Amino acid sequence: MANPFKLLVLPGDGIGPEVVSVALRVFESLCQLEQIDVEIKHDLLHGAAWDRYGTFCRDETVATAKQSNALLIGAAGGARWDNLPPPGATPAERDGLMRMREELETYACLRPSRAYESLLARTPFKPEIVAGADVLVLRELCGGLPYGTPRGIDELADGSFQAYDANFYTSEEIRRLAVVGFEIAASRRGKVTSIDKSNVMESGILWRRIVSEVGAEYPNIELEHLYTDNALYQMMQRPTTFDVVIADNIFGDLASDLVASYAGSLGMLPSASLHGLNPGRPAIYEPVHGTAPDIAGRGIANPIGTILSVAMLFEYSMQRKDLAQRIENAVERCLQAGVMSADLGGNASTDQIGEKIISALN
Ligand code: NAI
Ligand code: MG
Repeated sequence: MANPFKLLVLPGDGIGPEVVSVALRVFESLCQLEQIDVEIKHDLLHGAAWDRYGTFCRDETVATAKQSNALLIGAAGGARWDNLPPPGATPAERDGLMRMREELETYACLRPSRAYESLLARTPFKPEIVAGADVLVLRELCGGLPYGTPRGIDELADGSFQAYDANFYTSEEIRRLAVVGFEIAASRRGKVTSIDKSNVMESGILWRRIVSEVGAEYPNIELEHLYTDNALYQMMQRPTTFDVVIADNIFGDLASDLVASYAGSLGMLPSASLHGLNPGRPAIYEPVHGTAPDIAGRGIANPIGTILSVAMLFEYSMQRKDLAQRIENAVERCLQAGVMSADLGGNASTDQIGEKIISALN
């Protein structure tokens, strides 16, 4: 690469800084081995930013993000900061991560999960049900319920309350996500499952119609439509029959936590949030999990979800699938050697797992 690859690191809160520091070491080691020139900047996000600057995401941070090739983020959030913003604040004002997703318009969130041979016994499934499962949940990330207005909690005349959220989707928002889904399916096993509640939601009716239209342009890709409730059930019953699952912001959030069970722990799951498949736009790489306040500060968090997010960075922002594969292989070797964190039944620390994976890169 002629120019240095520009990475902005935002560790966030809770276990975020713990898993990011280890994943960053993996990133730097591989860049050094491959002589990839990188320029790394660090900043604060969400609670950490609030405590220092009184805002969840500074304008300067957004400006730096827009000049970057990629962002590596840990996780954001915690009870301490939940009720700070005034009532009526927008979702982006209430959540630094949501602001960043909106500012960078990273509408396509890729969340792959698979069953690892060495972790089959750690899953809640019978091994013969889950072995071979390899799914990518494609979650819409910039629209729908988390961002929709009107939203609010109003007091009624009798002193009780009424709360409401709105699930808005334009046909273009659905179409551009579906295109990413079919393109990714073409490079995988050629199947798309679209999930919606078109039986009870208008947004679901439009969702199904637009996904079908896009699907017609991909005659070689199998398209299955399922209602979300049944889809979640089927994803437990027959995990190996799913390839790419496309979903709106809320249903994709649910589905991606569910498929984490194939991998044995939520701590295993990476994500890439992209503005389509154009590698020229800044993309966000972060684990699927949150800040895990129950284990934060103890050095025992599983860093693999964040390390696999770095693998996705090599694949999607650097177009180096070979290097992504190298990290994935190193993760496999670490698991096969039994170097595992507590969530996987082991007793290795976050740092020990990082060291094992770095040594397996060679
Ligand atoms: P969570 O994902 O933080 O934790 C759920 C469970 O999984 C906990 O038992 C936790 O200990 C465990 N876990 C998660 N990641 C792990 C890892 N790497 N290693 C080992 N165990 C791990 O979800 P929760 O508890 O619902 O949310 C906690 C906070 O995180 C909240 O403030 C929430 O808003 C925020 N959050 C942030 C997200 C993000 O930044 N993308 C996503 C989800 C939640
Ligand atoms: Mg989630």
